[in-house]
Amino acid sequence: MCGVIGYWCPEGFGEAFSVIVDSLKKLEYRGYDSFGIATINRSVLGVVRAVGKVSDSKCLPLGGSVGMGHTRWATHGGVSEKNSHPHRDCNNRLAVVHNGIIENFQELRIALELRGHILRSDTDTEVLPHLLEEALNLGMSIKDSVISVSKMLKGRNSFLVLDSLTSTLIASRNGSPLIVGVSDSSNEVFIASDIPAFLHKTNQVYYLDDGQVVILDKIPEFFDFTGVSINKRLITIPWKSEMISKGDYEHFMIKEIMDQKDSLISAINQNPEEIMRVAEEINNSHGVFFIGCGTAAKVCHIAEYIFSKVADKHINFVTASEFENYRHFLLPETLVIAVSQSGETADVLNALSVAKSKGSKIISIVNSPTSSMARISDYTFLINAGVEKAVASTKATTSQIAVVSLLAYACAGKLREGDRLLVELAGKVNDLLNPRYEERVKALADRLKDSENIFIIGRGINYPLALESAIKIMEVSYIHAQGFAGGELKHGPIALITRGTPVIALVADDDNAQEIISNAMEVKSRGALVIGISPENNPVFDYWLKTPKVNTVGSAIANLIPVQLLAYHLGIVKGFNVDYPRNLAKSVTVK
Ligand code: M6R
Repeated sequence: MCGVIGYWCPEGFGEAFSVIVDSLKKLEYRGYDSFGIATINRSVLGVVRAVGKVSDSKCLPLGGSVGMGHTRWATHGGVSEKNSHPHRDCNNRLAVVHNGIIENFQELRIALELRGHILRSDTDTEVLPHLLEEALNLGMSIKDSVISVSKMLKGRNSFLVLDSLTSTLIASRNGSPLIVGVSDSSNEVFIASDIPAFLHKTNQVYYLDDGQVVILDKIPEFFDFTGVSINKRLITIPWKSEMISKGDYEHFMIKEIMDQKDSLISAINQNPEEIMRVAEEINNSHGVFFIGCGTAAKVCHIAEYIFSKVADKHINFVTASEFENYRHFLLPETLVIAVSQSGETADVLNALSVAKSKGSKIISIVNSPTSSMARISDYTFLINAGVEKAVASTKATTSQIAVVSLLAYACAGKLREGDRLLVELAGKVNDLLNPRYEERVKALADRLKDSENIFIIGRGINYPLALESAIKIMEVSYIHAQGFAGGELKHGPIALITRGTPVIALVADDDNAQEIISNAMEVKSRGALVIGISPENNPVFDYWLKTPKVNTVGSAIANLIPVQLLAYHLGIVKGFNVDYPRNLAKSVTVK
């Protein structure tokens, strides 16, 4: 959700502000409704805050070589300057930026106000500087104050504190990610909610775990919540800052769609022994749950079809935010498989802690190798998609489907066959990622741009794909889109079809093909504009986007790519910011 960045360089020349602005721009995908920066300049705290994106802003710089910044995705309190971070204490000594939700903030706030504090915002965050102020007034050190306040909070939280009196920058993690980056010469130290914030400066990092604080200094000092000092290992991240640039593309979303030329191959490049070991666990487990949120939840739904088709095996898919309701099915022999691009989604992490509390084993399929999910799982598959920055997930989704497919083939004892089919598929998918095909999709986007609704229908594996297609179209073009199982149409949704209503039919070269064509005919007879995404043309289609002839499992990837392109071009033709759609954030680290 929100992005936080702290910067420490006391021997610098007062460049904290510009460094922080640069980092905030790189964190914008985590939240972009408002931002703020605080620095310490000759022991005086300076703060700027503004509504909008940091990349659009022209605020006056602050002096100082130590500071922090925040890019906000509003949870408590509307989008306004007063609700933007950093927040301060009554004496203007401290500034705090925060990522997470303080679930007990109301009681903390009431108690603070009764004790005479004046809170100026509607946020949960603002209790933090005032609680810290009280702890410091009791004579505690800044470190002990941060620990003591951290322990008062309910929910998943991380925050950074800038103390102008002691020129200290200190951070606490309990739920939301925080990573410390140290430059080669150790004269610049960063702390951020994600590595891209400082990757252009360093790839040497320390990971903060839950229940830990760090005081940023030449050599960062780490403590647990009992105040005991802890040693941490400095890790080199195998990423380069070019990996998070748009290159020659205008937007991250189109770059990432095009990256699928290579990302599928990287995804299936898994260690066969590990795949077989996990497949054996799946086969021997007492119940398997695939869990995820949003698009990743749709991948879990797709997984249900893949496992049934390929391995004759029933797996359960559950939206992670609902997983707690299934807790009584969990046993130590149950396997919970989390699918997530970021590996930081709060609802998934919560679900995994439920699974852990029941002794169930956890496998994760994630893109970020150092994410919280990867770190708490018994085994992690990396999808190797490279950094995905656009809010709308594209290459990570197809890579997740590829890894799930490999696992299903391995469960069926057909890993080699699965591998071969997926390599073939990756080659065929390349045909969709060329300028001529894109032009065709663009023309369709132009035709659909004024639609109020778009419906997507599919059967079999193309049913959850229709649900995912709706997410893609909605989040980037703001056109209401809804996916249905083809067979469900006449049980209600067909009432919404009028002359010209666009209906996209996702067709695979499988047993469902004839029936989904019949469903397309049903809507066509009621005036719908039928768009076929299909390996074969059909007279019922008013518009045809050809996809390669692949098996059912492969169609989950092959049919999705034209939809991703369509969503992108709908967003572009409507003039929207496709990389940062309104109200959304890339990594949803609050419940
Ligand atoms: O990082 P995750 O894969 O766990 O994120 C889950 C969802 O928030 C994410 O897929 C979201 O639905 C995307 N915006 C979809 O494009």
